[in-house]
Amino acid sequence: MLKINEHYLQLKESYLFSEIAKRVREYTAAHPEQRVIRMGIGDVSRPLCPAVIKQMQAAVAEMGRAETFHGYGPEQGYDFLRGAVAGYYANRGITLDPDEIFISDGAKSDLGNILDLFSRDNTVLIPDPVYPVYVDTNIMEGRTIHFLEANQQNGFLPLPQDDTQGDLIYLCSPNNPTGAVYSRAQLQAWVDFALAHRSLILFDAAYEAFVSDGSPRSIYEIEGARRCAIEFCSLSKTAGFTGTRCGYTIVPQALVFDGAPLRRLWLRRQTTKFNGVSYVVQRAAMGVFTPEGQAQTRESIEYYKRNARCMTDTLDRLGIWYTGGKNSPYVWLRCPGNMDSWAFFDKLLHEAQIVGTPGEGFGQCGQGYFRFSAFSSHEDTQEAMARLETLLR
Ligand code: MLT
Repeated sequence: MLKINEHYLQLKESYLFSEIAKRVREYTAAHPEQRVIRMGIGDVSRPLCPAVIKQMQAAVAEMGRAETFHGYGPEQGYDFLRGAVAGYYANRGITLDPDEIFISDGAKSDLGNILDLFSRDNTVLIPDPVYPVYVDTNIMEGRTIHFLEANQQNGFLPLPQDDTQGDLIYLCSPNNPTGAVYSRAQLQAWVDFALAHRSLILFDAAYEAFVSDGSPRSIYEIEGARRCAIEFCSLSKTAGFTGTRCGYTIVPQALVFDGAPLRRLWLRRQTTKFNGVSYVVQRAAMGVFTPEGQAQTRESIEYYKRNARCMTDTLDRLGIWYTGGKNSPYVWLRCPGNMDSWAFFDKLLHEAQIVGTPGEGFGQCGQGYFRFSAFSSHEDTQEAMARLETLLR
């Protein structure tokens, strides 16, 4: 008789953002006259930039002609895009061999899929609060998870302690959900820890393009990281690809664990289970890395950063504690009046028609906190902040 993967039964009933979407649907069905402003899931509002559309349209035209049509592509990604990603890192002084770069349909899939390479006996270290994908994908495979407490005292940037354990260590900087950013010295502490314990860091750099104060944007800016870290990145937030889907994962040649080069294992996994990202999307992604694409995507990032500033200015006026919002599209705030984070979610939805994300959805240490995303339009962000001020004054 068929047996299921019993670890799935250990998961929460629904994924965080599905639960939020359900509550918002119920509210809007009951109050169709209300205009709800969404600042929950980090989904972008600005369209793809002209440099991306130009490449995409040229690729669509090629697909319609026998002479330029593309069938199956290389599973690891086309050379033109892997070369462009390598160039993007080279501009920041990081040399990558394009063979170390794997194009994917986004960081979320690869963060889950990478676990195929590792024994289920490994223990996992995950800061709390955290992007729920790291936790859920490990629960699905039955690994033991140790949580590392992030809190106001450590600026939501926990560091390894004497008793810290974990074969696989998840780090995300700029952080989702808190928007906090590790300094070079702090990341060095993590890399030193991983090298000393023969652990592997899974570094999520999805928000790197929002860093503007010189903090590290890649784990490979840190000495020794190539021997202990895989980096995941995505064009979702950098270039508005949430619906287009494209990202990349970097698996350095120097990563050898248990006698096995991880790059070779990952290539083997990808060639078996993945047929690559579509040609049209990879061409679109290449548009991001052209000089026009870089200038145009920077404009959108600055647009979202202005939204984040509008939020942090409002919180300053209201005297509410927060972190993030400076090198990040997320602002992480303390719920006013010591409210529970789901109670604050319901209050904002019902009394001000604003959707945010309750901190508890990102882990126990998120209880009492709340996340706003800066990816709405200016108009909606300004209106939401005006509603918030009226509600909390
Ligand atoms: C978020 O809101 O945390 C992100 O948009 C989720 C994601 O990138 O999958």
